[in-house]
Amino acid sequence: MTDIRHFLDIDVLPSGTLNDILTLGDSEKAGKAPFGDKPLAGKTLALIFEKPSTRTRVSFEVGMRQLGGDVVVLDADSSQLGRGETIADTARVLSRFVDAIMIRTTDESKLLEMAKYATVPVINGLTDQSHPCQIMADLMTIKEHKGRLDGLKFAWVGDGNNVSASFIHASSKFGFSMDMACPAGYRPNQGMIETANVDGGKVRMTDLDSALAGADVVVTDCWVSMGDEDYDARMEALAPYQINAKTMAQAKDDAIFMHCLPAHRNEEVTDEVIDGPQSVVFDEAENRLHAQKGVLLYCFNGLPS
Ligand code: CP
Repeated sequence: MTDIRHFLDIDVLPSGTLNDILTLGDSEKAGKAPFGDKPLAGKTLALIFEKPSTRTRVSFEVGMRQLGGDVVVLDADSSQLGRGETIADTARVLSRFVDAIMIRTTDESKLLEMAKYATVPVINGLTDQSHPCQIMADLMTIKEHKGRLDGLKFAWVGDGNNVSASFIHASSKFGFSMDMACPAGYRPNQGMIETANVDGGKVRMTDLDSALAGADVVVTDCWVSMGDEDYDARMEALAPYQINAKTMAQAKDDAIFMHCLPAHRNEEVTDEVIDGPQSVVFDEAENRLHAQKGVLLYCFNGLPS
C-alpha cells in the first residue's frame, strides 16, 4: 500500500517532508504541541529490537507516552522472530494489533520486508545500512547550534558505517557538504555517494587533514559496531583517525563535535574532546526524543496543513 507513511530512510523521502518532520520535532520540543495534547491517545507502537539499544528504546517509549500513546517491546530472543517466524508473517500479525512498528534489525532487507507486508507505518530504528532517526536528531542538533544546515561543511572521520550512510543521504536533501576521511576497507559504498551527489549532495572521500580543514561539524562513530567481528583489524586501521584535541583543532574554532553514542572513549574520541566545550553529544541524545516525536506524528497523523 503506497499511502502508508513509513519512515524507512532519508533518501526515499522528499526534502520538504523531512524539513516538516524536523519542524514538528522542534514544535514538540518547544511545547507547542501542533496536533494538540496527547494526539496519539489510543495508539500503540511496537518496538522490535534484534540488536541492543539504550537511546532508541527509551526515546521511542518516552516519546509515545508523551504523545498519549503506548508501546509494546519485542526482542528477537523472547519472541517467535528468534525461532524463525518470518518477517512477513510478523508484519501481518502485528498490523492486526498495533498502529505502527519500529524495527531495529541486522539486515536492511528485513526492514523492507516488514514495510512490504505491514498494513501500518514502519519506522527504521537502525539497520546494517542506515540509521535515519539518528540523523534527524543530529540535523536538529546542528540547526540548534549553527542556525542552519545549508552551506555547512561536515567532516565524517573514521568508519564509513550505517550512520555515515544516512548522513550521505541527508547531504542531498539539506544542502550541506561532507568530506569523509575513512581508511581503505572502511569506506562507504562509492555508488551510494555518487547517487547522493547526482541528487544534489556534496560528498567526497578525502584525507583526514582535508576533511577537518574548515569543518563546521566533526562527526565520528565507534570503530567496532554491533555485529562487527574484526576487532583487531579495525583498531589498527582506524587508529590514525582518532578525534583528539590535536585533530579537533584542525576544524574551525567554533566547530561542534558529534557522536551518536554509545562512545568507546579513548578509541575513536578522547575524553577531552567528548567532554570538552565543542561536544554536543548529549544534545544529540536528547534530540532523539524530539526528532522522533516529529517522525511519529508524521507516520500516525501526517503533516499539519
Ligand atoms: N545511537 C543509538 O542508536 O543509540 P542506541 O544504540 O543506544 O539506541
